[in-house]
Amino acid sequence: MNPQTASLTVSKIRNGTVIDHIPAGKALLVLRILGITGKEGFRTAVLMNVESKKLGKKDIIKIEERELTSDEVNVIALVAPSATINIIREYNVYKKLRVQIPQIIRGFIKCPNPTCITNRGREALKARFKVIKRQPLLLQCVYCGTIISQEDLEKQLVM
Ligand code: CTP
Ligand code: ZN
Repeated sequence: MNPQTASLTVSKIRNGTVIDHIPAGKALLVLRILGITGKEGFRTAVLMNVESKKLGKKDIIKIEERELTSDEVNVIALVAPSATINIIREYNVYKKLRVQIPQIIRGFIKCPNPTCITNRGREALKARFKVIKRQPLLLQCVYCGTIISQEDLEKQLVM
């Protein structure tokens, strides 16, 4: 096969979730957000930097035997706003969802302020951020007011 047209093919899955149209290079961040380490035991395919008609290049994740919850789907939008979520049942696309940045993010991100009440060990409250701007992304800690950007967010992921 001509190297220009060669493609890296991964088989269709029977049941589970395909996260498609992830910006190239962001698949590992999406896996972290979902808490997928590889130790869970489900078969997972991660394709990075594959050709896409819409995006030039993109990443794709295929997770067998796991359907994502709507909370998980929307948090993916923080690192991959272009992603589409395909829920697969018996080899068919049962549902196709676009991700949407939620107004409030509970958990997933750690406040960078060491004195924040969300960082106080056993007495800590669960982190909560308000989305104050979507493009470019800006989040604010509900408890201490610390503002974090897209770049900070990628460093503050809990997983
Ligand atoms: N897919 C899969 N296993 C299945 C069905 C679909 O892995 N049993 C994958 C496809 O390879 C594709 C994604 O899920 O990466 C979405 O499938 P489909 O909607 O059929 O593809 P497109 O029409 O190209 O999607 P879109 O319109 O979102 O670009
Ligand atoms: Zn805080």
